[in-house]
Amino acid sequence: MGPEDLKKVLHLLPPGELREEILVGLDTPDDAAVYRLDAERALVHTLDFFTPIVDDPYWFGRIAAANAMSDIYAMGGTPISAMNIVCFPCSLGMELLADILRGGLDAVREAGAVILGGHTVDDEEPKYGLAVTGMVHPERILTSRGARAGDALVLTKPLGTGVLSTALKAEFLSEEEIEAAVKGMAALNREASLAAGVAGARACTDVTGFGLLGHLAEMLSEEGPACEISAASIPLYPRTREMAGMGMIPAGAHRNRDFLQGRVEFAPGVDDVDRDILFDPQTSGGLLIALPPEGLEAMGDGLKEGKEWFRIGEFVAASRPLIRVTP
Ligand code: CO
Ligand code: CO
Ligand code: CO
Repeated sequence: MGPEDLKKVLHLLPPGELREEILVGLDTPDDAAVYRLDAERALVHTLDFFTPIVDDPYWFGRIAAANAMSDIYAMGGTPISAMNIVCFPCSLGMELLADILRGGLDAVREAGAVILGGHTVDDEEPKYGLAVTGMVHPERILTSRGARAGDALVLTKPLGTGVLSTALKAEFLSEEEIEAAVKGMAALNREASLAAGVAGARACTDVTGFGLLGHLAEMLSEEGPACEISAASIPLYPRTREMAGMGMIPAGAHRNRDFLQGRVEFAPGVDDVDRDILFDPQTSGGLLIALPPEGLEAMGDGLKEGKEWFRIGEFVAASRPLIRVTP
């Protein structure tokens, strides 16, 4: 569902309950909720599931599970257990479903968590994901709010998964040609989250359906900070620019752009392709981290060999519009 529709339906409901144990609830834009058990421990709850974005059932399962656990990592937490959410047409055969579940299981094992059970629904279109429970120390919760002017903006995975999966569906690209993106989507945000914690991150969120600019907007407010990003510094999966240039833009990118109307300003040198990519909805995207300048080095040290992070912008004092994109 797009951000506009989601906002409408939430307005029709009573406000979230207030309880002192609810550390992060319905009143923030974060995708996971945090419930305090005691002074040392809080539970982090989230769930996510979606329709296949790649043809290979194993990799679909792995990506869906990595994506579902990502919101735990974005809160600075560690996944401890998960339940499978499965919608599946029995006519497709149980071997295919087993492959999806095996992919999910491998991702959950890699996270050091366990699958405890699940629920299946007979449905025409397959869907898979997880409900995940994680743990976090109540004083080490990272939310999307808390960035300050002067902090660096760091992104931990390239962009382009919406464009590339659109190109895959349209058969402009094969699954082999988007291998880097498939592996990237299946990668956990675990190291990035741990490194962000060690480096003293002030705010964190993950980049998913609302695109880079949509999720960045969640870290900003009219009272400040605002943010400046440089289009040239944004890492992209291979073939993303080429496919976006050919018009492989998912509908969600247009919804994201409409929703952010008036809140993003593009400097004249930023071309149309870059603009589209910045609104591209991502699946299992990287973390967006607000890091005080003195934390930049520790962030680099904290990430394992082979994992990358990219400094893509700077938080600045309150300004209008909220986000300025330079070439
Ligand atoms: Co999220
Ligand atoms: Co979701
Ligand atoms: Co049941």
